[in-house]
Amino acid sequence: MYFEAGLNEETAGLAAGFVGVCPFVNDRLSAPVIAQLAAGGTRLLALRSAGFNHVDLAAAEAQGMVVARVPAYSPHAVAEHAAALLLTLNRRMHRAVARVREHNFALDGLMGFDLAGKTTGVVGTGAIGEAFSRIMLGFGCRVIASDPRPNSGLAAAGVRYVGLEEVWAESDVISLHCPLTPGTRHLVGREAIERMKPSVVIVNTSRGGVVDTRAVIVALKRGLIGGLAVDVYEEEGDLFFRDLSEQVLQDEVMARLLTFPNVIVTAHQGFFTREAVTAIAETTLANVTGFERGRVPAENLLSARAHMA
Ligand code: NAI
Repeated sequence: MYFEAGLNEETAGLAAGFVGVCPFVNDRLSAPVIAQLAAGGTRLLALRSAGFNHVDLAAAEAQGMVVARVPAYSPHAVAEHAAALLLTLNRRMHRAVARVREHNFALDGLMGFDLAGKTTGVVGTGAIGEAFSRIMLGFGCRVIASDPRPNSGLAAAGVRYVGLEEVWAESDVISLHCPLTPGTRHLVGREAIERMKPSVVIVNTSRGGVVDTRAVIVALKRGLIGGLAVDVYEEEGDLFFRDLSEQVLQDEVMARLLTFPNVIVTAHQGFFTREAVTAIAETTLANVTGFERGRVPAENLLSARAHMA
């Protein structure tokens, strides 16, 4: 059964009687929501995402619920979208295409910079960060990266692992590919921005909460950063994946963000390629059938490993 409504404390009752629930990435699976689902008989949360910062795993574990995810579908989908955001913003594609459509063939305001020879800083070199780093190496960038678990293959390909301070200070482009955790929340905030080059372009395709949007807006107003390109936003749950074009935008922070000429926003479409969506559907269905047979693939399990044994 498909429910249009987002999953929250008010709507959790709709799932009563369903053993498995397949929540969306912007549903909030807090402890009270999980308690309601458990009371209604739900035993499986089959996430359609790699990220799981929207699920209170401890609460799910306490309820003996099985939580499964899609750990990797197509890292290339998100990495290529990050590169597309960077190229669009740097070469002002969003403005150039609209301008030429109006028969304005002037170049004023469209100047970008060569990526070749510039320094790209990558925060998090898991599956997506690795794919993005390789794209940037292909552009001829010097790539530096920060990750508590360095990837030896990337290091061999020429990526230099450094501390975050060095990423902030040396990068012309910074791309975020770490998960959202208490340790990475607002990683890009006032203090980090103060250490960056004033020309830096920040790309975020990870999770909105990794960037302190209000601090970035202050920095953009003061000219402390060169540009921002994001596919995720802290408060995206109330906006993204909906057509609100006939309504007045209520989110003041997003409204302000959209006024800057050097900011571009896409609405969480990094994963949205044929290949990635097919892989998400296949793995999610495999998790559900695996649950029915008592064998969810171990690499997809987030909790309740013991309950599957
Ligand atoms: P992954 O788990 O393969 O890699 C994450 C990497 O971040 C790991 O290597 C980890 O060691 C590193 N990391 C953790 N804490 C860190 C820190 N404090 N500083 C630097 N690195 C740190 O995850 P994957 O598949 O590469 O995804 C990355 C993120 O991208 C996900 O967590 C998710 O939030 C986001 N994502 C966004 C999508 C979109 O459509 N825009 C789609 C899929 C994922």
